Amino acid sequence: MFIFKDVEQISQHIHKTKASAQRIGFIPTMGALHAGHLSLIKASKQKHCYSICSIYVNPTQFNNASDLDNYPVTIEKDAKMLSEAGCDVLFLPTSDQMYGGKLIATKFDYGNITRVFEGAKRPGHFDGVITIVSKLIDVVMPDEVFFGQKDLQQCMVVKKLLDTSYPNVLFNMQPTQRENSGLAMSSRNVRLSKEEAVVALRLYQALNEVKLLLNQGLSVVNALAEAKLRYLQHPLLKLEYLDVVDSATMETVEFIASEKQYAVIIACWCAEVRLIDNILLTES
Ligand code: PAF
Repeated sequence: MFIFKDVEQISQHIHKTKASAQRIGFIPTMGALHAGHLSLIKASKQKHCYSICSIYVNPTQFNNASDLDNYPVTIEKDAKMLSEAGCDVLFLPTSDQMYGGKLIATKFDYGNITRVFEGAKRPGHFDGVITIVSKLIDVVMPDEVFFGQKDLQQCMVVKKLLDTSYPNVLFNMQPTQRENSGLAMSSRNVRLSKEEAVVALRLYQALNEVKLLLNQGLSVVNALAEAKLRYLQHPLLKLEYLDVVDSATMETVEFIASEKQYAVIIACWCAEVRLIDNILLTES
């Protein structure tokens, strides 16, 4: 696996790779890698892409300084995992290279998908995400990008970015990887104590409960209320949202229509850690 820290050097390497007609698959990450990230590398390789992973903890997408300070950094372990997973290139840019000394995100408004849920709870978050993903795409020039479903709203926002500015880049969304317990894999899970990790399971249980109750014919309002009551009333949990949305637009829905794809989404604090998760109503 090649490791590049310099934009000039990786650009030369990418030009050579493209000249040999290889498709480039790009997996942008913030490191602290887990099996969820590796599934994205695997998906890229399965599509026979030359696979490039970036690790860059992007300051402009953090609306909370302590979240940024506490974000786990495990570069050596990450590099080993990537190399074992068959990743071809690891790109480790510096803030100077990405932002030229001015850590400022461009403002984006993609309507509902950038305004609701994560957009509302974490002001400026998607500006930071879109800004850095654009900068990275400009350097890596991928044919395809790979993102995890756990950040469903981010997936929709990136899809919109591609439709708007990079129509030739193919978007791939891979299913959320879960611990055996059902807890969605996340770099933030390392900050949960053993007890908190058990309590955090309630998020996935609540999502499944909503889905089950909807399948049993309950209304969206009642299914949400019941799941909150059964799983999310715990002293360590502070719920931000639990909703049923149209998964393409992130609009909340009160009625389910068979021709659309829906997701149940949740954001909830478990002690000091903010967790998000979702399931699609159609997934098994
Ligand atoms: O999902 C992430 O890890 C980040 O939001 C991303 C896409 C790498 C942008 O910094």
